[in-house]
Amino acid sequence: MLSILNNCYEKFVETYQREPDGIAFCPYRISPLGAHIDHQGGIVNGMAIDKGIHMAYGRKNNGVVEVQSLNFPNRVQFHVRDVQDEKVGDWADYLRGVAKLLSEDYPLKYGVCGVIEGSLPIGGLSSSAAVTICFMQALCIVNNIELEADEFIKYAKRTENEYVGVNCGILDQSCEVLCEKDSLLYLDCESGEYEQIRQPDNMPDYEIAIFFSGLERSLANSKYNLRVDECKASAYYLMAQAGLEYDKLSNTRLRQVPKDVYIKYRDQLPEVFCKRTDHFFSEIRRARDGAKAWREGDLVKYGKLMFESGLSSIKLYECGCPELISLYWIMRETPGIYGGRFSGAGFKGCCMALIDPQYKDEIERTVRDAYMKEYPMLEGKYSSYYCHSADGVMAIQKGRL
Ligand code: GLA
Repeated sequence: MLSILNNCYEKFVETYQREPDGIAFCPYRISPLGAHIDHQGGIVNGMAIDKGIHMAYGRKNNGVVEVQSLNFPNRVQFHVRDVQDEKVGDWADYLRGVAKLLSEDYPLKYGVCGVIEGSLPIGGLSSSAAVTICFMQALCIVNNIELEADEFIKYAKRTENEYVGVNCGILDQSCEVLCEKDSLLYLDCESGEYEQIRQPDNMPDYEIAIFFSGLERSLANSKYNLRVDECKASAYYLMAQAGLEYDKLSNTRLRQVPKDVYIKYRDQLPEVFCKRTDHFFSEIRRARDGAKAWREGDLVKYGKLMFESGLSSIKLYECGCPELISLYWIMRETPGIYGGRFSGAGFKGCCMALIDPQYKDEIERTVRDAYMKEYPMLEGKYSSYYCHSADGVMAIQKGRL
């Protein structure tokens, strides 16, 4: 974390010949249970991790936003009160989108200059929400705007939905804003209610392992939105069959379908809709059971639920790719791994696992060897990381750097 902070900091000083006004940090997130059900009003478990996006930033009095990324070429530049309506299709769309949405509700007098850097490869850890929230934090600080946590979440989600065009739910943004170190976030995405479940004293030590497939991804070109539509179509069908009132399709979610209606009409659903719906209802149960296991400090049970969740994503939600599916099966066979699954959407990117730290070296070797045997062409692209839970978004201001 510190070396990345130094990279941004040093690049800022080199570029602007002055110290930054501050450093904003937004963590990445993992979601061990509750995959692909946030957009349907489901229940999710999440954690922020101690790796993420840093931005060394400074105020710009002329209203210009000027940010360079240490991960991507090209410096982005736009005026904070004159953002183009259409996305460009690059990483900076998240900056443009959130500045545009924020300026509709708040007077943005100042722009921001900065250097931004992510600490891990892209895919599965929600770097898109992290870059949005990190930048939003800096932009708000220089403009003296104090946002509540729910506003951070709302603007970041709207950036994805309305500007970038990904119909995601609130999982990523909520984890990256609300999470607390050593706690599991238990979030009901329908009501917005949440609880931080502290890990009990009897819970054995664990670490979070990230196994990167070597394939980076963007959700914009995946089947993410298609799956969301399939879930909505299924909810429509079930409610119509049961003679229930329903709203516009865009406002319809599987959570609105009573469980007895699902059980009664499930067999009438087209097979593909039935699979998505089975995933939804079983994943909600796993997220609830997982919270109970976590409260009890039972990592073995929690891990078992994660493996079941991973299988449901493969078989019922059908969202893996061959490389991630192979990593999933390797994790299942590796001693010392409590449980694991695709991290995030799972179209490309990484798998995550909760591991027993005593087995770390062995896990590192076993997973790498088995994966490289299946995908030798990904040598040099595959990578793995070990991290811990962390607090949500934060900023350190000048004088405390
Ligand atoms: C992506 C989306 C989230 C969520 C996950 C899958 O990260 O942005 O809203 O749907 O996939 O659980």
